[in-house]
Amino acid sequence: MIGREPLVDDDLDVEHALAKPESARRLLAAMSGVTLDGHLQDRPGHQGVGLASDIPRTCLDADSGTCAQHVSRILWRMREQYQSGGPSVDFYDVREAIGRGHPCEGDVEFYVKQARRTGGPVLDLGCGTGRIAMPLARAGLQVVGLDRSPHMLRVARSKVTDDDDVTFVRGNMARFNLGRRFRFMLIAYRAFQHLLTPAEQRSCLQRVHRHLIAGGRFVVHLFDPRLEFCYPGSPTLSTRPPGRDPKSGRTVDVAVVDRQLDPLTQTFSERWIWTVKGDAGHVIEEVPDTLVLRWTYRYEMAYLFELTGFRVRACYSDFFGSPPRYGAEQVWVVEKR
Ligand SMILES: C[S@@+](CC[C@H](N)C(=O)[O-])C[C@H]1O[C@@H](n2cnc3c(N)ncnc32)[C@H](O)[C@@H]1O
Repeated sequence: MIGREPLVDDDLDVEHALAKPESARRLLAAMSGVTLDGHLQDRPGHQGVGLASDIPRTCLDADSGTCAQHVSRILWRMREQYQSGGPSVDFYDVREAIGRGHPCEGDVEFYVKQARRTGGPVLDLGCGTGRIAMPLARAGLQVVGLDRSPHMLRVARSKVTDDDDVTFVRGNMARFNLGRRFRFMLIAYRAFQHLLTPAEQRSCLQRVHRHLIAGGRFVVHLFDPRLEFCYPGSPTLSTRPPGRDPKSGRTVDVAVVDRQLDPLTQTFSERWIWTVKGDAGHVIEEVPDTLVLRWTYRYEMAYLFELTGFRVRACYSDFFGSPPRYGAEQVWVVEKR
């Protein structure tokens, strides 16, 4: 089931989508194997579906584009990493312990330095397990972390002590309304790329703009797309390193078993299988998962910022201030105009 913690926004919810035209309900049922009795239920063993382009043209023709978009978003979300809990959440912190060569190397220090300059308060969008939010709070800043995954938020909240001025809320970065303003905002580690359409990206940046004080700063981190990985049939980018949880002794391994690319929408969908093993090396569980991201080109981002009222202060290719470089990272530092 989708998490029941309310969202702090006017986000599309499952029930909302199910109120859409009948064919959307039928399509949703047919493609995803859910039971439609007013609630969504995962069918055990169901493997899910891929990209929005899988949605038959007939549906798009028969109903409104919005309706088809709703359906595709639900399908995505049902299978999306982080949103359904499991190994992607349980092993997030051990697997993303940032070392040398990691795309986020140096990011915590970078965000703390940027945020300190402003004095806070800080809003961390797509905050996940609080990997950045907690160090910001420990640096004495007032922090709000927002994420749409109740599972990631559970981990984040477990880290908070009485000394930390940090709050975690559930919401969608493309639609939130917190009714207050911040001096510094960030979207770390490619979380922005979970927004799968230009409309969602634009909506997110508009919300960021609305929540910043005049002159407030915003940092967002994306990968810079490597074109050889952006066409159908291109190889899987990486095998991910296994992780070991020192507390439980369990290890997790990830195999990327399928990769679908859609250059038209600039999205890819990877199917992952997580294998969790006990300390004796026996397999405890194998969990399928899907990661869907949208890649965005550097100039596309620059125009998006211009369109939504930001002035670009800097764009780096890492967290050490290196100049833009093809195929590396995009680390944008922008200011509210
Ligand atoms: C790769 S994790 C990054 C977490 C954290 N920012 C970090 O640097 O470790 C991506 C996070 O974005 C969240 N996310 C994805 N789409 C979102 C959305 N539309 N609104 C809010 N959070 C979202 C996921 O739930 C997940 O926690």
